[in-house]
Amino acid sequence: MCVTVLQKISTGCESIDNILGGGIQFGNVGLIYGEPETGKTTLAIQCAANCTRQNYKTLFIDCDGTFSARRMSQILSDDLGKAELVILMKPEDFHEQTVVVDQLPEYLTKSFGLVIVDTMTSLYRVKVAESPSRTFELNRELNRQMALSAQIARTQKIAVLVTSQVRSAFHDAQVSIEPVATRVLKFWADTIIALKPTGNSQVIKATVEKNPRKMHPQTCRLKITETGIHEYSVR
Ligand SMILES: Nc1ncnc2c1ncn2[C@@H]1O[C@H](COP(=O)(O)OP(=O)(O)OP(=O)(O)O)[C@@H](O)[C@H]1O
Ligand SMILES: [Mg+2]
Repeated sequence: MCVTVLQKISTGCESIDNILGGGIQFGNVGLIYGEPETGKTTLAIQCAANCTRQNYKTLFIDCDGTFSARRMSQILSDDLGKAELVILMKPEDFHEQTVVVDQLPEYLTKSFGLVIVDTMTSLYRVKVAESPSRTFELNRELNRQMALSAQIARTQKIAVLVTSQVRSAFHDAQVSIEPVATRVLKFWADTIIALKPTGNSQVIKATVEKNPRKMHPQTCRLKITETGIHEYSVR
């Protein structure tokens, strides 16, 4: 009997998979960040769908309350039966997110291939806005959650994928877009994918800024459609 061991989870976007050598690796932490509506959740759902297609479960931690079963079924299309392999958790505040992340080691059995935290920084941001004097402490807690996620990815040989919103950053009088809590998220991520809008609302510029194989950032264009987020080819 041929037993396949899952090594990578396809993102469902051929060019990103090519850059990553097949997809998000087991044992690694991936970060997808970008401006609103650039397809972060769609790309994460697509990874969840591709994980279930390989008969592994996905734990989807929906911190924004934006997980859409309809979107999941559009993306899974012919494999709708696999939807039951996606387990959804919805923390309501940053404290609940802390509890969920702390319980991951007990919760994740060998049948899991992927953990998604979408969006890792939204409840953190709300808490920082409520209690600005606790920013340092909250940032340290976010760092601890990322460290634990990275440890779980390595020890349990699963992939962890987190998404983040962006904030403007100023470097030498130039404005750039960076994930919230940049240092923390980028430090722990083995793979970083930045999504940026283009002039066409359905077309997204994706840059793989960091990946375990190649050092140089590489860019491709993706299109958001009914069936998810895929290659954009100009004819
Ligand atoms: N069925 C669909 N067909 C076409 N486009 C869709 C469909 N469902 C969602 N979209 C579009 O996909 C785009 C990306 O949505 P998505 O929620 O993935 O973005 P996001 O980056 O996670 O946004 P946010 O920053 O708000 O979390 C949105 O413009 C949305 O309107
Ligand atoms: Mg989203």
